[in-house]
Amino acid sequence: MKPIVLLTCTMVLTLLFSGTKGAEIFLEWNVAMDWNISPVQSVQPVITINGMFPGPLINSTTNDNVHVNIFNNLDVPLLMTWNGIQQRLNSWQDGVSGTNCPIQPGTNWTYNFQMKDQIGSYSYFPSINFLKAAGGYGPIRVNNRNVILVPFDKPEEEYDLLVGDWFSQSFNTLPTTNTPPDAILINGKAGSNFESFSVTKGKTYRFRISNVGSAYSINFRIQSHQMVLVETEGSYTSQIALDSLDVHVGQSYSVLVSANQNDADYFIMAYLTQTNITTPPAGISLLHYSGSPGVISGPLPLGPNPMDKDFSVNQAKSIR
Ligand SMILES: *[C@@H]1O[C@H](CO)[C@@H](O)[C@H](O)[C@H]1NC(C)=O
Ligand SMILES: *[C@@H]1O[C@H](CO)[C@@H](O)[C@H](O)[C@H]1NC(C)=O
Ligand SMILES: *[C@@H]1O[C@H](CO)[C@@H](O)[C@H](O)[C@H]1NC(C)=O
Repeated sequence: MKPIVLLTCTMVLTLLFSGTKGAEIFLEWNVAMDWNISPVQSVQPVITINGMFPGPLINSTTNDNVHVNIFNNLDVPLLMTWNGIQQRLNSWQDGVSGTNCPIQPGTNWTYNFQMKDQIGSYSYFPSINFLKAAGGYGPIRVNNRNVILVPFDKPEEEYDLLVGDWFSQSFNTLPTTNTPPDAILINGKAGSNFESFSVTKGKTYRFRISNVGSAYSINFRIQSHQMVLVETEGSYTSQIALDSLDVHVGQSYSVLVSANQNDADYFIMAYLTQTNITTPPAGISLLHYSGSPGVISGPLPLGPNPMDKDFSVNQAKSIR
């Protein structure tokens, strides 16, 4: 086709599909190694995106076209995958070994893909050579278009919560099997350096939870609060109230949490599950009520026995 014909076609198509076509989102990411972040007090390389760990949110709407120009400033090749984005007729943008070449150190490459007909919560992460164990991951939201009804009231606020196992060793010296993790990070944090999610009594919040770890399943729970499951990886679910939620590696879920308790701080906790490894302390963050005097009160939530396979399987089966 001659360029002029192509241009005319493009313009006609643009007119035909305007409204469902989606916006153009241009992102420029500088991926680098940072030795000062030390999530677990060990000197180790952590992968940042534009200086951030975890990386920035990709906040998109159904049918948006995303263009991510990635500059690889690591000293190793980098391949980034968009976990759960369907890449229809576009598999070479998926960033997995075999369909895509890694971005060589010191060079840049642009991923172009569309959030075609999708909604939901996802994550992105480096897909080769254990780089994910050094970070480089982040959240993806695909919001509904305005004309589409969502099966629950608009929450007061939405929070992305990335949880995952973490090893104090450098990603390039990790043994390949049976290494117990040293910590569970929530949004890149562990120990007493809590992430705090602010809520106001009487309001409801959406948490988009993804397990960005390398190997281990987690059980997720919030002190004194139930969660209502509403979405998993792009499908709205029938809504079920849960005391705790198992999130396996690579999975994403949305839950609604109503701030219906007394003004205080409450623990948000992530424990390893489906393993007998008990060494890493729970991943912890805070649900902080705006009227909280800053005290944490009440008993810690008890969860299922981590070796209880039936609990996990039955919970998964109950999701429709
Ligand atoms: C994400 O995009 C939606 C739709 O454009 C907007 O309403 C919302 O405020 C954005 N959220 C963030 C965290 O940028
Ligand atoms: C690399 O970045 C430059 C500057 O932003 C851009 O013009 C170019 O298209 C990028 N190259 C690739 C292969 O994406
Ligand atoms: C933990 O599980 C491993 C593998 O399933 C098993 O070899 C080991 O004996 C178990 N340890 C304990 C303390 O139960």
